[in-house]
Amino acid sequence: MGVFINDGSDADGHEQVVFCQDRHTGLRAIIGIYSTALGPALGGTRFYPYASEEEALTDVLRLSRGMAYKNALAGLDLGGGKAVIWGDPGQLKSEGLLRAYGRFVESLHGRYYTACDVGTYVADMDVIARETRFVTGRSVEHGGAGDSSILTAWGVFQGMRAAAEHLWGSPTLAGRRVGVAGLGKVGRYLVAHLIDDGASVVATDVNEAALAWARTTYPQIDLVSDTNALITGDIDVYAPCALGGALDDDTVPLLRAKVVTGAANNQLAHPGIEKMLEERGILYTPDYVVNAGGVIQVADEIEGFNFERAKLRATKIFDTTGQILRLADDEGVPPAVAADRLAERRMAEVGRLRTIYLG
Ligand SMILES: NC(=O)c1ccc[n+]([C@@H]2O[C@H](COP(=O)([O-])OP(=O)(O)OC[C@H]3O[C@@H](n4cnc5c(N)ncnc54)[C@H](O)[C@@H]3O)[C@@H](O)[C@H]2O)c1
Repeated sequence: MGVFINDGSDADGHEQVVFCQDRHTGLRAIIGIYSTALGPALGGTRFYPYASEEEALTDVLRLSRGMAYKNALAGLDLGGGKAVIWGDPGQLKSEGLLRAYGRFVESLHGRYYTACDVGTYVADMDVIARETRFVTGRSVEHGGAGDSSILTAWGVFQGMRAAAEHLWGSPTLAGRRVGVAGLGKVGRYLVAHLIDDGASVVATDVNEAALAWARTTYPQIDLVSDTNALITGDIDVYAPCALGGALDDDTVPLLRAKVVTGAANNQLAHPGIEKMLEERGILYTPDYVVNAGGVIQVADEIEGFNFERAKLRATKIFDTTGQILRLADDEGVPPAVAADRLAERRMAEVGRLRTIYLG
């Protein structure tokens, strides 16, 4: 295991990056801790066949920084971290490898808590938990929070209500037409909230089973052939709930919605897209603000999971989104920039408290 602590020379500003290797099981992992200003770093473990170590490192540095901002705005007393296991989970994943990884997480003595991400599942967290206390996203049988998409969808709905209030004066989607791209775990819960609230929903998915679910569960949903048909249709709100990069140079000019609020991570394909949205008069609620319900749900395990407490925290996404939209107006910047500023402010203000000597 190699460890280097940031001395200010690392341009990315991470506190600590840990390289872990266990030759016997084939484990190669990198744990990135961007910031512990607010508390132990929390973020999932991505198990992915990266083409190179450099690619794995770039990803973990980007993701751990993102988690610091997400956790800060979610109001959690948690910093930002993330881990990647480099390899094909289909071939490499084994009890031995996961437990070896768990021992490396344990060796950080709580500076980093792990969770699920692409390529890792609740059952994997249960295995990792046999070697470390610093793991969330476990199964309900093991005191875990279960399916995090429940509160992710609830948080997205709260963010959308805040955008509706900001733009139309009332915190409801009643009478609005919402286009949902992706009827997966989050998209399905979101659709339920929207219909309960009185919105009309149009949706799309590439998976026939997801469309069949919509037809039988909510026959009132209009289904369209693809995302292009969705975003060029007559919608008030666009909710990207499939993959990242939903907002790019091709899609933004076509958008007819006045609001974009969705669960997908990394919706802005590249820096500058937030400006394009602003120029087109489209209100964008930053993805990492509105989709924080999932991390709020798993983070609650650290205190001993309580669904109602976690739901109350996720409901606050309504207030945070409203605050960001007002700050954006006041400071004349896109909401994505305002959100970053608010996160940085909290990390600096709370982090500074450590300088008060406790005797
Ligand atoms: N699950 C969570 O708690 C959580 C938390 C934060 C962020 N997110 C993000 O939200 C998004 C959705 O997560 P999920 O857990 O529902 O994933 P999921 O895999 O259950 O659902 C994604 C759905 O999108 C569909 N899809 C894929 N490509 C599509 C396309 N081109 N057009 C239309 N539909 C397409 C898939 O068929 C699937 O039904 C992801 O980007 C995820 O990273 C999820």
